[in-house]
Parts: sequence; structure tokens; C-alpha cells
Amino acid sequence: MADAKHDVKDLGLAEHGRLRIEWAEAQMPVLRLIRARFGKERPLAGARLAACLHVTSETANLAITLRDGGADVVLCASNPLSTQDDVAASLVADYGIPTFAIKGEDDKTYYQHLTAALDSRPNLTMDDGADLVTQLHTQRADLLAEVLGGTEETTTGVIRLRSMAHDGVLRYPIIAVNEALTKHMFDNRYGTGQSTLDGILRATNMLLAGRNVVVCGYGWCGKGVAMRAKGHGANVIVTEVEPTRALEALMDGHRVMPIADAAREGDLFVTVTGDLKVISGEHLAAMKDGAIVANAGHFNAEIDIDALEQGSKSKRRVRDFVDEYLYPDGRRVFLLGEGRLINLAAAEGHPAAVMDMSFANQALAAEHMMRHHGDLERKVYAVPEPIDREIARLKLESLGVRIDKLTAEQSKYLESWDQGT
Ligand SMILES: NC(=O)c1ccc[n+]([C@@H]2O[C@H](COP(=O)([O-])OP(=O)(O)OC[C@H]3O[C@@H](n4cnc5c(N)ncnc54)[C@H](O)[C@@H]3O)[C@@H](O)[C@H]2O)c1
Repeated sequence: MADAKHDVKDLGLAEHGRLRIEWAEAQMPVLRLIRARFGKERPLAGARLAACLHVTSETANLAITLRDGGADVVLCASNPLSTQDDVAASLVADYGIPTFAIKGEDDKTYYQHLTAALDSRPNLTMDDGADLVTQLHTQRADLLAEVLGGTEETTTGVIRLRSMAHDGVLRYPIIAVNEALTKHMFDNRYGTGQSTLDGILRATNMLLAGRNVVVCGYGWCGKGVAMRAKGHGANVIVTEVEPTRALEALMDGHRVMPIADAAREGDLFVTVTGDLKVISGEHLAAMKDGAIVANAGHFNAEIDIDALEQGSKSKRRVRDFVDEYLYPDGRRVFLLGEGRLINLAAAEGHPAAVMDMSFANQALAAEHMMRHHGDLERKVYAVPEPIDREIARLKLESLGVRIDKLTAEQSKYLESWDQGT
């Protein structure tokens, strides 16, 4: 099968990758059910689907599901540091899925891989961060006429696409998978919460108990990171720009303060805002000796790395995924994973059990787009609510958890406006 087009690190890694793909599959019961139905019904027949996603064992299971649904799938990385090279090899060698992704690829190769995926002339796109869609609209507009629709995985991508739609430049409809409750309530919160700490611990082996952990951004991801850091015994400090979220952080039991103050107190900093230069050069210069800085937001723009490079007098790699920056006054600041999503750079990304729901949404959103693209405008759409609710139902069922059903009397009561006590 290795004749599928590819640019991966080493096809010799395929056997190890296949074992990981199978391990993830065992924990993705909802996606397995969808795959079985897709195999029979082939709802994606005729789709040429270019997917730009983190190339992990969970993504491999999604790609196989889409292929079994009848799509011609081509996969490229959505981040230079998030690829699992053995999984990429197995996708090519064992499953015949064209894959363009190498962990640690430079920016030039990253964009070449996007171009390689677009060379398949997709009529469906599946994106994580909207780089593929942006590349398509700005560099390969000649291909746009054939595109029926797309899906987007993450918060940052949805924000970019909404701004394209707002400016009237988005040329086809996109379903925002991130907005499904069965995506962001679980993936962003529990997935990012657990795996971000996993990445930080694997990179540093630091003890969190008793340390000041500064979480920048108290959105879905930030709540997860803060909750898990607290569970390890850390003192959590939250920085925010949105008053309601700051208040929520306070009432969840965390300290809240501006980053300029937090910069002096933190032992570990984690950015999860989707914003730019949340930790600036000034903040980096105010940190204690030994402060550790990491990012779990989509782009490596949250920490001002240029300022770190310029403000420090030397830099050396002291462990895998740990760069030490030495300031002229002798203080050291450690940057993890070059400021890229630390949960994917230094660990394995979200656990498969949570990606089960995110990727069930992706698969069903792709099916919905194939069926209904003709009815949709050039806008960003939410995942239809029945799909979202069905995924929650299937997940509960797979976990052996049963819940109650409304009685007819209760339904009537809840729907009426004229019944009080
Ligand atoms: N690492 C992962 O695997 C992973 C998974 C899901 C999402 N993400 C990414 O993480 C980021 C956050 O996602 P989310 O779903 O939590 O988004 P969200 O919109 O729910 O939360 C972001 C929060 O950051 C706050 N914020 C913005 N600018 C700030 C600033 N300068 N200082 C402090 N707070 C600021 C916002 O007010 C908001 O509350 C996005 O880039 C998203 O794409 C990463």
C-alpha cells in the first residue's frame, strides 16, 4: 500500500504506528459505530476530502472512518510539532491513506504539505486552525469552484473563519465542529486539561504541589488546565480579559490578577487564550529565576518568543522540549516545546476516549455537508443539535451509563407556561 502519495519520516515505523492506532480505536466506541455504518452506507462516496489535522492515532481512526465512508482522504499536519511519525507511516503503509506530515518539519515543509493535500483537488476540507482553508483561499483560489463545504475543529479556526465570513471572503459553507457541546465541553476542557499537564510533566518532571501555576485564559481549555493543576496541589492564578470568566475563575477558587502581577509570582505559566503576546517581553523579564513557560493554545503566538530571544543573552536545550533562556542578570526562563501546543509536542495530545466524541462530530458533520451543502450559504454553521445529542447518547451507552426519560406528564409540564406549582 506504500504507493499512496506521502511525505512521512520513515515508513519503517509503520508497525509501531499500527499498534497505536489500534490502541486508540479500542477507546473510540462511538467512532467505531459510525465507521461500521459508513462501511455499509458509504455516505461520503464522491468526496475528495483534504484533512489538515494533528496526525495522531486518534486522527488515524477518523481518517480510516472517512475512507470507509467512501471518501478519498488526503491528510496533512495542522502543526509542525504535533505529528506522530509512526502513525503517519502506518497510515501510508497499512491503510493506503496519502499523508504529508513529519514531526519537527520547518515552516516551509509545513506549507508544502498543505499544498500537497490541496493538489488532490478536494471538494471537502477538514481543518484544525483554518490554515488549509486560508491557503486554499489565498494561494489556490483556482480550486475553490469545486469545493462543496468543510468542517473546522478548533476555537482559533472558528474565529478565523467567522472573520472570513464577516468580511465576505469565505467561499463555501463550513461546519464549526468546535461548537458542538460534545466537542468543546469535553475535548477542550477535559482533553486539554489532562494532556497539557501530561505534556508539561513529561517535558519537565516537575512537582506541581505547592507551586504557583498561572493559567492565562479561563475559557474551556483554561478551566480544564486550572482544574487539573489544582488537583495536583498547585496554587492556581488565573489571568483574563473577560469579566464574567474572571469572576467564574474567582468563584471556582482560583486567584485572579493581571498578568503583570502574576508574572512575578508564577512558577509555571500556561497560555490557553488563542490570543497574541499574552505573555510579553516585559512579563518574561519580570519572572522569577527558573520560571517555566508553556502554551496550549492553537498558535505559538501567545508567548512573545522573539522578545525572549532578544532579552536573553544565551539559549540552550537542556532536555527534550525544554529550552533554557539565560538573562543578563542570571535569571533563567524555560520555554517548553518552542511555545507550540505542549500537549501535542511533548505528550500524545488528547486521550482517545475524548477524541471519540470530537471525531464522531467530524465524521457526522462531513456526512451532513455531503448531503446538505446545496442548502447552505457561505457561512459558518453549528453542528446540528440532533447530531450533538446523539453523540452524547452513544457515548453514555458505550460507557454503560443509563439515564432517565421524561414521562409524558413531565414533558407536558415542562412545555407548558400556565402550570406553576
Ligand atoms: N491544546 C489543545 O489540544 C487544544 C484543544 C482545544 C482548543 N485549543 C486552542 O486553545 C485556545 C483556547 O481555546 P478555548 O476553547 O479555551 O477558547 P475560549 O474562547 O473558550 O477561551 C479563551 C479565553 O481566553 C481569554 N483571553 C483572550 N485574550 C486574553 C488575554 N490577553 N489574557 C487573558 N485571557 C485572554 C478569553 O477572554 C477567553 O475567556 C484556542 O487557540 C484553541 O484553538 C487547543
